[in-house]
Amino acid sequence: MDLGLKGKVAIVAAASKGLGKACAIALAKEGVNVVICSRNQAELLEAAREIGSTTGVEVLAIPTDVTKPDDVVKLVEQAVARFGRIDILVNNAGGPPAGTFETLGDEDWAKALELNLLSTVRLTRAVLPHLKKQGSGRIINITSYAVKQPIAELILSNAARAGVTGLAKSLSNEFGKYNITVNNVLPGLHTTARIDYLHQSRAKSQNRTFEEIRVEETKQIPLGRLGDPADFGSIVAFLASEPAGYITGQSLVIDGGAYKGLM
Ligand SMILES: NC(=O)c1ccc[n+]([C@@H]2O[C@H](COP(=O)([O-])OP(=O)(O)OC[C@H]3O[C@@H](n4cnc5c(N)ncnc54)[C@H](OP(=O)(O)O)[C@@H]3O)[C@@H](O)[C@H]2O)c1
Repeated sequence: MDLGLKGKVAIVAAASKGLGKACAIALAKEGVNVVICSRNQAELLEAAREIGSTTGVEVLAIPTDVTKPDDVVKLVEQAVARFGRIDILVNNAGGPPAGTFETLGDEDWAKALELNLLSTVRLTRAVLPHLKKQGSGRIINITSYAVKQPIAELILSNAARAGVTGLAKSLSNEFGKYNITVNNVLPGLHTTARIDYLHQSRAKSQNRTFEEIRVEETKQIPLGRLGDPADFGSIVAFLASEPAGYITGQSLVIDGGAYKGLM
């Protein structure tokens, strides 16, 4: 299927590794010029080099902390200065720390909301004028299957992602008239540094081994394996595409069937 993405421009946030990088690769394979960001400059430049050399598209790497409002504005300015347009925004950031309600304080809550909710607000605010001007656009937020089924010991993520879900539905209502779609993609368990961290953390809190936790969690997935980040990236590329132009305001779980509910 021709996704109609050749020559488009995407900003993919938090994309030096993991799911963000997989999204950038999937878009680049479709001929999209990608602007990627993250904080660690060396890892970011290496990711940009790898994506550019394997796909042949131009990759612009801009060191950015998505929790810093000035960084976000500069990221979008530099993307527009280089490519003259933005068609696709993939909102993403690292995950907040593990913890339960009684182990976390106001500072943890404020940081988590900055990282996973306000970064989405600010990136979207900076990109929207460009999408409106063009009369089309795609905004895709990476959240978590926690939105459908809260995850034990991840209360910060459970709450912040719900905020992004409400934001996305409101944005889809407000900006549909500009032919801008806004959707969420909900990862289950994909093989990234984040999932290693969570399984280490769970092993520690339950006084068990990392391997025991890994096997137990994998058994919960009907497809019998953790997700490859590439499984995730290809769906994001589809949601960014022309054929997906009538999908908006939705939350799509990509989890090998791990979520147990019906809807
Ligand atoms: N992997 C999964 O299966 C899964 C499941 C549910 C939810 N999620 C969520 O999906 C998102 C991506 O997860 P992942 O597994 O890809 O994580 P990851 O492998 O840990 O990668 C996180 C990426 O985000 C960047 N980053 C972190 N904080 C940032 C900041 N403040 N500003 C800019 N970039 C930042 C990191 O680079 P720097 O550290 O250099 O900035 C890195 O490139 C996270 O929010 C995670 O909680 C993932």
